[in-house]
Amino acid sequence: MADLDGNTKIEKNYYVDKPFAVNGNFHVKGAANLDWGVKKHLSNIFDPRTGNTVMFAFDHGYFMGSVSGLERLDLLMPKLIPHVDVLMATRGALRTSVKPNFRKGIALRVSSGSSMLNDDLSHEVIAVDIEDAIRMNADALAVQVFIGADGQLSSIDNLSRVINAANRYSIPALGVVAVGKNMERTSQYFKLATRIVAEMGASIVKTYYCDNFDEVAAACPVPIVVAGGKKLPEKEALTMAYQAIQGGARGVDMGRNIFQSAYATAMADAVSRIVHRKYTDAHAWEFFCDVTKTTG
Ligand code: R5P
Repeated sequence: MADLDGNTKIEKNYYVDKPFAVNGNFHVKGAANLDWGVKKHLSNIFDPRTGNTVMFAFDHGYFMGSVSGLERLDLLMPKLIPHVDVLMATRGALRTSVKPNFRKGIALRVSSGSSMLNDDLSHEVIAVDIEDAIRMNADALAVQVFIGADGQLSSIDNLSRVINAANRYSIPALGVVAVGKNMERTSQYFKLATRIVAEMGASIVKTYYCDNFDEVAAACPVPIVVAGGKKLPEKEALTMAYQAIQGGARGVDMGRNIFQSAYATAMADAVSRIVHRKYTDAHAWEFFCDVTKTTG
């Protein structure tokens, strides 16, 4: 019978200081052996100059409706697009409210099925077929995965179906690790969930920052991008982003900590400086304060 830690009698070693050994000359972890088409999509997501990405997540409406800060996507997006690498969104948000004349990546939300009115959010279906994802020029297909929740089986089924379809067209899958109400944001949980998602075949895993994050990142054979979670004071959110990058994340997939800031553009810019320009959290905070002082 399996135990929760894999094998509790043998001490684990994540070799956090050793770089991933199978990257070849490609800049995205775990993708060296994939074909040209997948690598092109991954290069639309992860900047080849830094290997990192700033994904702006504004797919919340798929289960939260009109969240504070996302009431008017048509007004928000033109301000934010210059500061991010990828838009993570639903097809409805993109088609209705974002002009297609931008040169950034698209991470298309393709799972759905619950709303804030449900106690258990873990029961989803695949809501977008592969042909429509191709029509949207998606660079990645995002599927929510609920490990340890009531809907685990169906969410892994969703992830598998999406990966099987996406592989036929060389489109990467982004596995979004959801944390259910009874789950704790511990490294033990994230090591389990991120590794399951990567081994199912996802090319990117989105998860949350946690203690011992460097071990979570080291044990995951594909790049991890960190979600922001609930709105924090900007200084704390910048520290979280910095610590995640220091711990081995290859970027952020951040929503509320950008779009719920009174200074969303400055926040996106500050996060981008951490992700791509080696800013420390203190340096990024100083930048944020300078910008917001002058813009009022
Ligand atoms: C949540 O299910 C959505 O997929 C969001 O994209 C994700 O939570 C990231 O947004 P935030 O940074 O607001 O947590």
